[in-house]
Amino acid sequence: MSICSDTQLFHDGGTMVISDTKKPKADERVPQAVIPDLHDGQVDTGRIDADAKRLVNCAKVDVNQLMPIKYKWAWEHYLNGCANHWMPTEVPMTKDIEIWRSDKLTPDERLVIMRNLGFFSTAESLVGNNLVLAIFKHVTNAECRQYLLRQAFEEAIHTHTFLYVVESLGLSEGEVFNMYHEIPAIAKKDKFEMELTTEILDPDFSTESFAGAQGFLKNLIGYYIIMEGIFFYSGFVMVLSFHRRNLMTGIGEQFQYILRDETIHLNFGIDLINGIKAENPEIWTEEFQQQMIDRVKQAVELEIAYAKDCLPRGILGLNGDLFRDYVQHVADRRLERIGLPVQYGSKNPFPWMSETMDLSKEKNFFETRVTEYQSSGALSWD
Ligand SMILES: [Fe+2]
Ligand SMILES: [Fe+2]
Repeated sequence: MSICSDTQLFHDGGTMVISDTKKPKADERVPQAVIPDLHDGQVDTGRIDADAKRLVNCAKVDVNQLMPIKYKWAWEHYLNGCANHWMPTEVPMTKDIEIWRSDKLTPDERLVIMRNLGFFSTAESLVGNNLVLAIFKHVTNAECRQYLLRQAFEEAIHTHTFLYVVESLGLSEGEVFNMYHEIPAIAKKDKFEMELTTEILDPDFSTESFAGAQGFLKNLIGYYIIMEGIFFYSGFVMVLSFHRRNLMTGIGEQFQYILRDETIHLNFGIDLINGIKAENPEIWTEEFQQQMIDRVKQAVELEIAYAKDCLPRGILGLNGDLFRDYVQHVADRRLERIGLPVQYGSKNPFPWMSETMDLSKEKNFFETRVTEYQSSGALSWD
């Protein structure tokens, strides 16, 4: 329905009136339908002040007005995410299929691949569901929600990736997608996360209480810092180590794109967490900080156990002990980004991961893709 296409409406002392310049003449009747009575009470049509925006519990600005943007970092992350668009089906799997069917991989190497497919295939869904069902509702800011919508689509693409890999390699979908029930090292990590989602989905949950605001921050730290920032990283190292040996390069390439996306997810999460802390300093108590440190330390042990489960005897260049150092190193980096003290001081045993994360040095995939998407977006209809 077209609403007041040529009629200026504004608000005056609680009564909706039509401006003088467009007032109907006495013999003209304004059809009722063009002046919708959407609100029973006061209608506030005052322009919004960006300074009044808040990340959570925003009472002054509705969530439908993107402009003016207050949190420029959220918009930057959104643009970066869009610039990195990719689809798993664009990555050829022919070489991977050839290697998987050959005897080039040892049983231990196959175990590493299978375990990581099993973990990621459902972890991506857990992140996507938590975003949409638990986080989105409570983030009361339009530019952050714009990013969350983009991230949710990326998580769907990541889940799609694992379906594509399972189908390409002819793996048992039942085996891969049930590891989060059946493999204890995976089930423990996922249980750690799923409990956080359940807390937010309690019908009585509200971010307006002190405990609720802390609970929400706990969920954000649990997903952005721990799940996407720690639990994903052993898997990145393991799968990308095959890529470095020119094995399973299709999956390796897909993991590179996922890693690139996850780097942005992590950075957005850190900005969101630090932003909520800054706006609600009372919830960032010493006791709460210690609880978050303890949770990160608990997660580190779960992740080390996961790496050992994937590598019971080790494979070329990788063993469980190296992952103790790596996971601790990664956890320290995450802690310091949200203003918590480092706990371990361990060195990074895989310095090549830093180079891998800077994909632009090695690949022009995204430049190619951006060009192609732009051209397909400008289709000629002749
Ligand atoms: Fe993801
Ligand atoms: Fe993610």
